[in-house]
Amino acid sequence: MGLFDALPPEVSLYEVSLRDGLQNERATVLLRDKLRLADALATAGLKRIELTSFVSPKWIPQLADADEVARHAPRFPGVVWSALCPNERGLERAKAAGMTEIAVFMSASETHNQRNVNKTIAETLATFDNVIAPAVAAGIRVRGYVSTAWGCPYEGDVPPAKVLWVAQELAKRGCYQVSLGDTIGCGTPRQTRDLLRLFFRDFAPSYLGLHMHDTRGTALANVLVGLEMGIRDFDASVGGMGGCPYAPGAAGNLATEDLVYMLDGMGVSTGVNLEKLVEAGKVAESLVGRPLPGKVHQSGIRSLRA
Ligand code: HMG
Ligand code: MG
Repeated sequence: MGLFDALPPEVSLYEVSLRDGLQNERATVLLRDKLRLADALATAGLKRIELTSFVSPKWIPQLADADEVARHAPRFPGVVWSALCPNERGLERAKAAGMTEIAVFMSASETHNQRNVNKTIAETLATFDNVIAPAVAAGIRVRGYVSTAWGCPYEGDVPPAKVLWVAQELAKRGCYQVSLGDTIGCGTPRQTRDLLRLFFRDFAPSYLGLHMHDTRGTALANVLVGLEMGIRDFDASVGGMGGCPYAPGAAGNLATEDLVYMLDGMGVSTGVNLEKLVEAGKVAESLVGRPLPGKVHQSGIRSLRA
């Protein structure tokens, strides 16, 4: 059976521009402008949107207004807003803001984990004992991220067995889904196939999401491999904004417009209106004050002449 025999009728997108995108921008974006982008993304039909991070404002000053952003998130039917939470303090802030979903995050490589959250992997998991179960008990769904799943900016190759182990630890603690992060966008399709094959010994494809950064232009190719192998959840960021300030060389995420363009053209529904999404990308660009790298964002949906 080939790729085009295995295509699903629909997939679920998880938008990260307001979080992964803005955490990495120099520009300070005002609260009202963040809310304007949130509105534009939901208007385009995105249903799962990461809004901000309840992390330390000293570590990520761009998202220091997380509590306000979350409190003022626009209400759209069927839209679930989420936010990163590194610890108990983050969970308390998320609860106070009325969040119904949060995301915990950690890395499969020690050095990136240490640089990103100032803790070892073991300490991070211990911290999550006080985040995931209490959140779930309070009716808050928890997504988990495994960063550096394809490679680490400090350590290079990361053993796939370690990536799997970290995901298992997150699953055990109650995450409803684990998103595998190619934090520095170094993954290639064969590596993606091999990693997913390993994962599928323990996990159903429906449990996993792919969070690809497009640093080296391989994000869509990796998504296509995931799609063929049964993955139905993909993270993306409008305009291709994004990066991790604690991962040198991490460029933007896969652009949501590029992903929707490809999926639309293949007859795979995302529930997103591409024209409106392109408008949201323009809003994002105007807020950050620099040209965004997304391909469809730059070229438009179609420029063919009849
Ligand atoms: P720390 O300095 O080790 O923490 O930071 P601490 O517990 O010792 O506390 C130090 C100070 O931070 C204290 O304040 C705490 O109150 C405060 P002080 O007494 O100095 O005034 N603090 C907090 N404030 C607000 N909210 C909190 C909070 N926690 C402590 N939740 C910490 C540890 C985890 C907090 C810090 O390292 C941090 O915030 N790191 C965040 C890093 C980050 O957000 N990175 C980017 C996101 S990850 C990513 O992009 C990858 C991803 O996209 C997937 C992929 O691409 O692979 C998800
Ligand atoms: Mg990321």
